[in-house]
Amino acid sequence: MDSDGNRGVSAASRLRGRAEEQLIAEFSEVGLCRTGDEPERLLHELNVHRIELEMQNAELRQTRDEAELSLEKYTDLYDFAPVGYLTLDRNGDISAINLSGASLLGVERPRLIGCRFGLWVTEKYRLTFSDFLDKVYTSLGKVVCEVQLCREGLRPLFVQVEAMDNVSGQECRLALIDITGRKKAEDELRSYACRLIEMEEDLRKKLASELHDEIGRDLTVLGMNLAIISSGMTDDAPKNLTARVTDSSRLIEGISRTVRGIMFMLRPPVLDDYGLLAALRWHADLFEKRTGIAIIVRSDDPIPRVTAEKEMALFRIAQEAVMNASKHAATMEVTISISRDNGMLRFMISDDGRGFTPASFEHIQGGSGWGIKIMRERAELIGGNFQVDSAPGKGTVVSVSLPLEER
Ligand SMILES: Nc1ncnc2c1ncn2[C@@H]1O[C@H](COP(=O)(O)OP(=O)(O)O)[C@@H](O)[C@H]1O
Ligand SMILES: [Mg+2]
Repeated sequence: MDSDGNRGVSAASRLRGRAEEQLIAEFSEVGLCRTGDEPERLLHELNVHRIELEMQNAELRQTRDEAELSLEKYTDLYDFAPVGYLTLDRNGDISAINLSGASLLGVERPRLIGCRFGLWVTEKYRLTFSDFLDKVYTSLGKVVCEVQLCREGLRPLFVQVEAMDNVSGQECRLALIDITGRKKAEDELRSYACRLIEMEEDLRKKLASELHDEIGRDLTVLGMNLAIISSGMTDDAPKNLTARVTDSSRLIEGISRTVRGIMFMLRPPVLDDYGLLAALRWHADLFEKRTGIAIIVRSDDPIPRVTAEKEMALFRIAQEAVMNASKHAATMEVTISISRDNGMLRFMISDDGRGFTPASFEHIQGGSGWGIKIMRERAELIGGNFQVDSAPGKGTVVSVSLPLEER
């Protein structure tokens, strides 16, 4: 017999032993003693069984009381957990929900059972949520998504949903975590970033026009003055004076070139006049001359012009990505490519250099990591999807895809 069987037998014989002892005690209380004949033996057996049953009954009652207590404790834990818990059946209908979950949905619990949870998800997130539910039943382990919930008479709520299917594959359990505060903070940060980007562009524009209108004008006048002085100089003028005037003219030409270069870098006029592709080629040329890194600009099709705001954002993204490649990738070649595909503009800056782990930089606050954050903000501000694909030793691809609306 196995050990479970042995344990069962010994528990039964212990119970019988205790029942026999209690029966002897009962008999001696009423002054009975045993005669040993058959009816008396049967009566004895019946009495032993009666006492065994009473004992088992008492034990069961105690176990039930303990189970009720622990049920109460766990129900309390379930109902008042700081997150909402729900069970959804295969159709996405609510089969169980805790009180925190019901209060997140803003409806009393009994009215929620049997309702389709997806009805609370706002239109914008319906597709995300149905893809998420499909994933819950097809992937192993926990699946996470973020959706917005609309609630009757209450403000909308952002929740993080974490879910797993149960063993039968016919139900899944969801945890709902209110992340409205975090989303609000993220939105505020985004609008600050947006304002910062706008301010930067305004400042660049202002600086470029001040350089052009004030310094540029004065340099031109200075150049003209020197030309007049130089032409008025007679042959008998001191040699060192003539040399100084010629040198000053050369200096003014040099300063004018530098000022023009800074003006163009601040706000490349070629972008406004000839579009993104021309501006990228101009930037690539300049960058290559300055650093020796070859920037190849590729475009499959004639690329339609998009709004000035979008062209500027893509141009700035390319500037930062090219700069990153030159600073961090240890490569001598970067490719910028623009193509259109299914009504989308695909913009890509790639290098086959050192590469890195993008996730480790996206969450760093301050210092390194701002370049990538700002690229992302710029792309998202113009309605684009931004992505950095990189791995150590595998090069880096920065890409933006943008719905194409020709202007
Ligand atoms: N093309 C690249 N190749 C290798 N590493 C890169 C590349 N682009 C970015 N990185 C890594 O990502 C980090 C963050 O980039 P970024 O946000 O632009 O900040 P910064 O350039 O100021 O360091 C860089 O410090 C670098 O380690
Ligand atoms: Mg950078």
